[in-house]
Amino acid sequence: MTGFNTKAIHAGQKGKNPSNALNPPIFQTSTFVFNDIDHANKVMSFESTDYVYTRGNNPTLRLFENRMAELEYGKEAVAFASGMAAISSVIFSLLKPNETIIVHKTLYGSTYSVVTELLPKYNMNYKIVDLTKLEELKDAIDESTRVIYFETPSNPDLSIIDIKGVSEIAKKHDIKLVVDNTFATPYFQNPLLLGADVVVHSATKYICGHGDVVGGVAISNDEDYIHYLKFAYMCEFGGVMSPFDAWLLLRGLKTLGLRMKQHEENAREVAKYLKNHPKIESVMYPGLDDFKGHKIAKEQMKGFGAMISFEVKGGLEPAIKFVEGLKLAQLAVSLGDCETLVQLPAAITHRGYPREKLAEFGLTESMVRISVGLEDKEDIIKDLEQALELI
Ligand SMILES: Cc1ncc(COP(=O)(O)O)c(C=O)c1O
Repeated sequence: MTGFNTKAIHAGQKGKNPSNALNPPIFQTSTFVFNDIDHANKVMSFESTDYVYTRGNNPTLRLFENRMAELEYGKEAVAFASGMAAISSVIFSLLKPNETIIVHKTLYGSTYSVVTELLPKYNMNYKIVDLTKLEELKDAIDESTRVIYFETPSNPDLSIIDIKGVSEIAKKHDIKLVVDNTFATPYFQNPLLLGADVVVHSATKYICGHGDVVGGVAISNDEDYIHYLKFAYMCEFGGVMSPFDAWLLLRGLKTLGLRMKQHEENAREVAKYLKNHPKIESVMYPGLDDFKGHKIAKEQMKGFGAMISFEVKGGLEPAIKFVEGLKLAQLAVSLGDCETLVQLPAAITHRGYPREKLAEFGLTESMVRISVGLEDKEDIIKDLEQALELI
């Protein structure tokens, strides 16, 4: 099985489903029954891969995990109740007190809070670096550095970070590299193939694709690490995904390739439209030839995704007028849904960033982020047009 769409539909499926059902059942059970004490001993000591309790393992979750592992070219995966459950568990699992994580200067707001507010409570340190500049990364590394973490493209300014370049530096210093691949999805980018040790996703976004699930997943080629992450962190912190959500995500995955192709086609048109509009100051989209990270994006991604950020001329007031004037696009957090979603990151998803540091992190109060949906591109652009006319 080599094609992305074939894997997204079939990977991880072993044999036939019960009653020859085309689709896997939802194993909606908290508990599994042991045959006898010998069976219990085997399962509890991992000699058998049978199931005990859904907080540790469940067949619907295992199928989702196996499918995600194949799509990301990893060996094992573990599902979580949310992207943040995956991210916080991965970060805490790789750090001990007095050790340091290096993160890129723009991160999803809750990840930024985990790093800057939670880690210090456990004497774990962080450094914020512009990881688009590899020299800055080299200067920031010291003997306490254990983890490098970033999103590429990053939320919300679409920074593109050279995964291979960072991984070569990380390997020299025996540092673990974790990449949040939520914006690109495995359809457009595979960080494990470029040297990352762990990939995390908010499955809530494109993997689900329909805005009706909150979920997360972490994938690696290190099977022992995933076992540790699953049983020492996911299972003990208890951030387990529900079997029903795993089933919905398996359904979402079947069309991930098709959806990403169309999302991107729409986004390219929207980015071009915005770029040429006299009321738009600047557009951040990795697919634009003159975008800062375009060259690296072209090398490490198979497509540029469908997230765009931009500045309306005149700052915050016209930006608010614009987002409030949209009729088809919805003013909402999240991304990767069929619906086009628009928001102001500094006021909403990235509210945790200190106001006085926004500029330092490449953000502004007036930045608009758009998750280009699957409506007809002409209708999306018509909606943007009528909202821009209001300013
Ligand atoms: C890049 C990125 N990573 C992680 C998350 C967190 O995921 P979740 O909301 O599923 O916890 C988000 C949410 O918006 C995100 O944009």
